Amino acid sequence: MALRPREWDILKAIEELGGSAEARAVAERAGVRLSTLMSDAVSLAQRGLLLVREEVVRWAELTEEGRRYVREGLPERRLIEALEELGGEARPGDVKARAGLSDEELAIALGWARRKRWAHIEEGVLKLLGAPDKTPEEEALELLASGPTNVRELARRGLQNVLPVLRKRGLIDIVEETRKILELTEEGRRALQAPRPVEEVSQLTPELIISGRWRHVRFKRFNIGAPGRPAYPGRLHPVQEVIEEIREIFLEMGFEEIRGPLVETAFWNFDALFTPQDHPAREMHDTFYLAEPAEGELPGPELVGAVAKTHEDGWRTGSTGWGYKWSPEEARRLVMRTHTTATTIRYLAEHPEPPVWVFSVDRVYRNERVDYKHLAEFYQIEGIVLDVGVGLRDLMGILAEFYKKLGFESVRFWPSYFPYTEPSLQSTVYSPELGSWIELCGAGIFRPEVVRPLGVKHPVLAWGGGLERLVMLKLGVKDIRKLYRNELSWLRGLPICP
Ligand code: PHE
Repeated sequence: MALRPREWDILKAIEELGGSAEARAVAERAGVRLSTLMSDAVSLAQRGLLLVREEVVRWAELTEEGRRYVREGLPERRLIEALEELGGEARPGDVKARAGLSDEELAIALGWARRKRWAHIEEGVLKLLGAPDKTPEEEALELLASGPTNVRELARRGLQNVLPVLRKRGLIDIVEETRKILELTEEGRRALQAPRPVEEVSQLTPELIISGRWRHVRFKRFNIGAPGRPAYPGRLHPVQEVIEEIREIFLEMGFEEIRGPLVETAFWNFDALFTPQDHPAREMHDTFYLAEPAEGELPGPELVGAVAKTHEDGWRTGSTGWGYKWSPEEARRLVMRTHTTATTIRYLAEHPEPPVWVFSVDRVYRNERVDYKHLAEFYQIEGIVLDVGVGLRDLMGILAEFYKKLGFESVRFWPSYFPYTEPSLQSTVYSPELGSWIELCGAGIFRPEVVRPLGVKHPVLAWGGGLERLVMLKLGVKDIRKLYRNELSWLRGLPICP
């Protein structure tokens, strides 16, 4: 990479400062900010044009107490001076008074004066032995009085040995500073031999044109290989995308979409589906019952009567029924629909004549503990076919076709049970990723107990199952909650056309 003008200036500044200098000085000389300098220095060092070294500088500086001693003199110095004034011999108390020392200072002063052999005590009397005019300690303190001083400077004056003592006495602190030293390499020196590079400009400004400076600058080339900024345009939620796909498939297969209320009477959610009123699925742990309003309206008495009789003794359906007393109150209770079969059966009651090919993709609710497999609010895919002469093979064919269009090639059917179908099936698809068969939907042919009270005289194929599991299989998601967490990074990262 060729040198940029500012880099050239930086190398030049180091050269002018003697080939190696502290970063701050280089920044000043080159006329760039320290932060800019340091980032340029990294890049220059990577290219072998300079070396960045760290140097630790130790500074000695006076403490509060040190400054006071500079003003007043060391306690032992004050002691000796007072002792001299008292004729070289005196009681410590008198020396203390003369020198104006506190008790504490007297103790310090006596300790040091004796240790330095400036004085000694004989029978309670302090006697002067003699002291030099100025000790190296005092010299160092004096020097430090003008401000923090580089330890090297002190060493140059032969004062390094007193620093430990002064530090121990709490008169100075040693602080460390890390400095960055920039040093030109041979290659750096060589690079400086080329003339200062021409300024490179990335934008043509009016100023450049008017001043004519455009003739002398170099225009930066576009880097057409640079990665573009990722764009995140609005898009459908992945669950919604699958819903759209499912709609397309059903429409292609000749179905019409229907919708029904989220809040249903137990009548449509259960009773019309020949589900006994004491069926465990109706209990509170599965079904959300509404507190307010708690009851809805039942359809006409003819239908209600037929359903009631069917539950009680089978009515004219050829069945013996469940053999209990059917309660209209129980049937009036409002629930959050637990399956979309409530919607297809309602539709069937209004459209009992063939052909009826309808589907719905909509929300249902169950009082489930939410975990990686379960949600309390989720989607079901539901469909029915009422037509002349249709049967189990048509049902399996329709489902197989549906899954194939969704991308699942291997479909299997197992016998199953629902109160409203006979025969009943469970359909499964093979997931090569999971290496297992996944249950997708329940299906069957509506029992006479279900269709006769509605006045339906031809077979009705019915199926229904979860949507989210399909979405999870398609997207490789292991936790159902992920679908609704609105993690932007996940949502954005999903391919638009999987
Ligand atoms: N309603 C059933 C369920 O929620 C599925 C189903 C629909 C079964 C239609 C048979 C016929 O699991």
